[in-house]
Amino acid sequence: MPLSYVDAIAAVTATAPYAYYAELVAASLLQDKENGIWLAASAAAVEAVLAEPLCRVRPVHEPVPKALQGSDAGTIFRHLVRMNDGAGHCPFKQAIAHTLQSVNAEHIAQRVGQHARQLAAELYSPVDYAWLDQFALQMPVYGMASALGVPEADLPEVAVLMQDFVACLAAGSSALQLEQGKQAAARLLALFRRLLEQASADYTASSPSLLFTLAQQAALLGRVDADVIVANAIGFMSQAYEATAALIANTLHVLACNETVRRQVAADPAFLHGCIAEVLRWDAPVQNTRRFAAEDCRVLGHTVRAGDTVLVVLAAANRDPAWNPQADVFDPRRRQRRCFSFGSGVHLCPGQQWAAQMAHAAISQLCGMPLDFSRLAKARSFRASANIRMRLYAGT
Ligand code: HEM
Repeated sequence: MPLSYVDAIAAVTATAPYAYYAELVAASLLQDKENGIWLAASAAAVEAVLAEPLCRVRPVHEPVPKALQGSDAGTIFRHLVRMNDGAGHCPFKQAIAHTLQSVNAEHIAQRVGQHARQLAAELYSPVDYAWLDQFALQMPVYGMASALGVPEADLPEVAVLMQDFVACLAAGSSALQLEQGKQAAARLLALFRRLLEQASADYTASSPSLLFTLAQQAALLGRVDADVIVANAIGFMSQAYEATAALIANTLHVLACNETVRRQVAADPAFLHGCIAEVLRWDAPVQNTRRFAAEDCRVLGHTVRAGDTVLVVLAAANRDPAWNPQADVFDPRRRQRRCFSFGSGVHLCPGQQWAAQMAHAAISQLCGMPLDFSRLAKARSFRASANIRMRLYAGT
């Protein structure tokens, strides 16, 4: 059977996608003849596409998806560095990277650990493990929102708004999801514009919020457009949301299925860091991303034509044996792990430390709770998505 775009999207939420991905890796870079979409899957192909300046994060003629144009959701989308190349990307990306690096790992761990404890206490149920899905999804929003300066009392509402906002960004979202997402975007913009005004007046803060730091970093670059700052602050939450939730859920599943790894984590909590890094590579939360050719370009000897779409299969490249020996083996002690799960090149994710610390806090919390791991090991379903692989525990 020919390797197709449709199968590559289905693989994201398939029970066992990695044999299919191995075929894609062997093919390296190919074009689906049905629809003209390119599939880049070997490590060399993924690296080359993500390094190609003519392969952009958005189609040239549609910087904002049609369904979002003219709405508050479109306003946020339009300003995200993630969705821009050129002047809309750099140097603001630097402001973002500096902001996220301004908090050290210990401080992040302490802060998100508190949220993990509170959320677990609020949501826990021994009967229905659906609470674990909610825990994984809410943790990243609580962690990022409170670090951005959202008052504790507003965190539950922001978690709901984020759920609605992210749902409307997905290609193929329903009319209702679009409407709810746009309303959520309006409320998020209003909240963050207010917070930015307050943060700007708060020069004496000893432990500044990420929003305040981002505004300071933006000012250093001469960028004081409030909407750019606010949109990217909201982007911290939307980008952290499903990806970090999936990292939490997928790590939990590895622990549930592997008693030896569980024992090692119990004996040495630091071992969990290696486990999380290996889950990122071995069962990537973000399985693919996309690029759109702005002009004809050559990638690994192929001509990608202006207007072509490239599906960049990060999860397949992570298992390329040319980059990671014994790539299918789950090894938390792996040396020189090479991983595309946070992307590569100019759009490399600046939130890696936050993602890893939030996942660590969440899993440490769960490991201290009375969970039936044999039940969790039976989890077979995934959250519906074309790019996020997040295992669900409802119904286990
Ligand atoms: C497990 C969790 C996460 C994963 C797997 C992940 C993955 C990624 C990937 C693959 C990209 C690059 C997309 C592309 O090049 O097409 C990216 C970009 C980005 N991520 Fe993350 N991310 C995670 C968590 C976070 C967190 C916690 C934050 C914020 C605190 C964050 C902020 C961003 C931003 C701002 C970008 C855009 C960077 C740019 O365009 O230059 N991410 N992320």
